[in-house]
Amino acid sequence: MSDEKWVNLGAIEPLKAQSLQEIMVGKIKLAVTFLNGSFNAVSGVCNHVGGPLGKGRLDGEYIVCPWHNWKFHCRTGLGEPGYEEDAVPRHDTKIVNGDLWVNMKPASKRMRKPHAPHPLARKVERNDGPVRLVGISTTAMDAANPRYSTSDALLEYAIQHAKDHLGIETRLIRLNDLKFRHCEGYYSKSSHACTWPCSITQMDRTDQLDQVYEALVHWADVFIVSTPIRWGSAGSLYYKMIERMNSIQNQITIANRVLLHRKVAAFIITGGQDNIQAVAGQMLGFFSELGCHMPPFPYIAHSRGWSAEDMERNVQYVMDSTELRDGAADLVGRAVELARTLLAGEHGQARTTRGGRKAHQLDVKAQI
Ligand code: FES
Repeated sequence: MSDEKWVNLGAIEPLKAQSLQEIMVGKIKLAVTFLNGSFNAVSGVCNHVGGPLGKGRLDGEYIVCPWHNWKFHCRTGLGEPGYEEDAVPRHDTKIVNGDLWVNMKPASKRMRKPHAPHPLARKVERNDGPVRLVGISTTAMDAANPRYSTSDALLEYAIQHAKDHLGIETRLIRLNDLKFRHCEGYYSKSSHACTWPCSITQMDRTDQLDQVYEALVHWADVFIVSTPIRWGSAGSLYYKMIERMNSIQNQITIANRVLLHRKVAAFIITGGQDNIQAVAGQMLGFFSELGCHMPPFPYIAHSRGWSAEDMERNVQYVMDSTELRDGAADLVGRAVELARTLLAGEHGQARTTRGGRKAHQLDVKAQI
């Protein structure tokens, strides 16, 4: 007995209106194309992480997945040249009395070409050793024509203090030295389109934000993030970085996977003008949403107020301030002490609990 399962998709004339469309048959998603006068159908579920192929676009005879641009041939379901072993099932079609029919029993099988995982995708395991601290400078400047940055200076002082007096390993990353793309909003297509490692990091091996991901997720126990104040907000590179860190936070939402476990975050905020508390509030909120711990008094900051436009004096003030340098040293001391407590297992659970606003996926689903 034939196990074909022909289903009528409807009259061909309206179906001709779109060269690519998604059609649901029960719970099964099809990507149906009308190209060069003929209808074809393949599975509407991408091999990568399940993107909706029928909502993509056509590049010649290839369907381009709308999530991360993988391509599959509209007739054969095979991946693009070089990736033919990555194939989605194809379905036979026929036209009967002006209606398009599709055989829901696939004519070919889904095949997955093994892809070497990105190095960042490895299991998150802390290697033995002393506490490790990464300082992240978010200050933007012309590297060929450098200037004195007050937030950088205090960050450098904090790191040097940690190295000299706290017996820990340190690393400094200046975002200004890295070439990395803006977040391109994969999450806005679907929470599942925002992947770990970041979709951009996986697609673009020249993108250098992998250094930040490596330090935050796999290496450091303590993060000290420094920022200038720009029009009452953190610097633009800070925002460029944290938008890309959605890939870390999103793992909590979609996979109940807390990548930043037993990590401590603290902050250095300086600006010629004010709004320190608003800048600090954003930074505290963001890093706590990722599961980070904060030491008591988790930031140091300095500004001389709204009308202090005499920036040379501001720079000189920070250069001369023993109090700010002592504050930076104390901040790093508090952060490292908390990290040591966490690593010794004397505080909190062995596994960071899922929490925060993003913890209730079922509630979110219930509202849809
Ligand atoms: S390319 Fe299709 S889900 Fe990523």
